[in-house]
Amino acid sequence: MSKDLDQEKRLAAVDAASLVEIGMRVGLGTGSTVAYLLDALSARSIDATFVATSPRTQAAALKLGLHVEDFDEDATLDLAIDGADQIAPDGWLIKGAGGALTREKIVAASAARYVIIVDSSKLVDVLGPPVPLELMAFGLASTLARVGSTTLRSSPPSPDGGVVADYHGEVHNATLLSRRLADTPGVVEHGLFAPALVSEVLVGTGNSVQRIVPGG
Ligand code: 5RP
Repeated sequence: MSKDLDQEKRLAAVDAASLVEIGMRVGLGTGSTVAYLLDALSARSIDATFVATSPRTQAAALKLGLHVEDFDEDATLDLAIDGADQIAPDGWLIKGAGGALTREKIVAASAARYVIIVDSSKLVDVLGPPVPLELMAFGLASTLARVGSTTLRSSPPSPDGGVVADYHGEVHNATLLSRRLADTPGVVEHGLFAPALVSEVLVGTGNSVQRIVPGG
């Protein structure tokens, strides 16, 4: 029987929307699973404040009547909810297929509770390429030469002016690759998200939602 991945995304999103309480400040990720989350939040009409990780999410949230604020002055977030591209058994994630990885990681790191919502196809045995990257435009050729195995996307720059790219080398050891990419001058951010960032993963699985706590 083929899986209904959209239904799985929707189930995970509805579950996550129920975590939002009155008065909370909540970070919103980017992507098709988050689109279901926005619908579920709008249906709840809850009096909360939201911070968006991309212009796409911001526009969709405002259209649905959610109260969206900039993320400039108030550093606190009670909760953030986002999708992912791959989730390994040890809790490492790859994110950024939608190109919003830098803002997504800032929001993830700022949230007291960071919840990932996915369909069951995102659970993998081993992380593999591509790993999305945001790079500085200045010195781009030099950065690409040092990172290696990277292609540039044809998409426009990120909202912060970065060049969006994908690293196609093997991941092997996420900790070591994450460190190498973070230590490379010109790499603004990479799409490897460490298990320590993630409070829980809600996985739509058939007609129910499985809850995974990395390291738990
Ligand atoms: C965007 C992301 C998304 O959360 C990730 O790509 C998953 O997207 P989708 O929910 O559409 O499968 O990291 O930068």
